[in-house]
Amino acid sequence: MSTRHFLSLLDFTSDELRALIAQAIDVKKKLQQGISHTPLSGKLLAMIFEKSSTRTRVSFEAGMYQLGGQAMFLSPRDSHLGRGEPIEDSARVISSMVDGILIRTFGHDRIETLAQNSRVPVINGLSDWLHPCQLLADMQTWFEHRGDIAGASVAWIGDGNNMCHSYINAAIRFDFKLQIACPAEHQPDPALLASGGDRVALHQTAVDAARQADLVVTDVWASMGQEEEQGQRLETFASYQVNREVMAQANSDALFMHCLPAHRGEEVTTEVLDSSQSVIWQEAENRLHAQKALLEALLKPTA
Ligand code: CP
Ligand code: NVA
Repeated sequence: MSTRHFLSLLDFTSDELRALIAQAIDVKKKLQQGISHTPLSGKLLAMIFEKSSTRTRVSFEAGMYQLGGQAMFLSPRDSHLGRGEPIEDSARVISSMVDGILIRTFGHDRIETLAQNSRVPVINGLSDWLHPCQLLADMQTWFEHRGDIAGASVAWIGDGNNMCHSYINAAIRFDFKLQIACPAEHQPDPALLASGGDRVALHQTAVDAARQADLVVTDVWASMGQEEEQGQRLETFASYQVNREVMAQANSDALFMHCLPAHRGEEVTTEVLDSSQSVIWQEAENRLHAQKALLEALLKPTA
């Protein structure tokens, strides 16, 4: 059997993703009740971080520990990944010694090459193209608050970036409507957008996208690797801030999400981040539970 990877939400079917979320909710309950759940005893996850991280690193490391296994942190600074050893060679070597590999990097092709040359499951911990693990947590958070998201209206406001791309994939797998508003120069990839069919619509303004939304989502205006564009982007994105006026267009019980870290006063006001509609802290915590479900699905020994 070929090795199963999680490079994109599309690697799992709708049913599999819903099953993962149910499992995430279950492992969260077990943890809260102090019930030990260690199906990954003796398993080791290598974690390659070529970009910074707080949530992804902490949640995967804590998750492996809680599941009875261990995680190993690898950075380009102190491994040969940063000295030009090909990712293909690194994949062969690392995957001969561990049970799974998490990678956060720049080009998505680097993750695909890693997966093609790995004999163990590879998990995308964020690329310039996608951030599927974050979507597991976002969907879990929605399901916990509101039940299934099928048929709901979700507004994506801001950059047509890796998170926006993953929301398009989520709209496909979970069957919700995605209303996107991004500046003309920062639209999501056209082919990916087209793959969403009539589930996905583009709007000119933030208020148009937010109208009657059940969930409003945004992300930083300059992602990792775009730091030098920060000044220019502050100007380009100025009218795409999620603020009180934008939230007022959404349904009165709409939720607000942000993958974090947030830049208060830029893509979102402090008022919205701290409002009763904001579920950002549950969303961040759910990285742990959702990824434990994912790790179990990919790494658990088959009977
Ligand atoms: N949301 C997210 O992936 O956070 P980190 O960059 O801290 O991992
Ligand atoms: N779009 C952001 C997400 C960070 C979790 C980035 O890629 O930096």
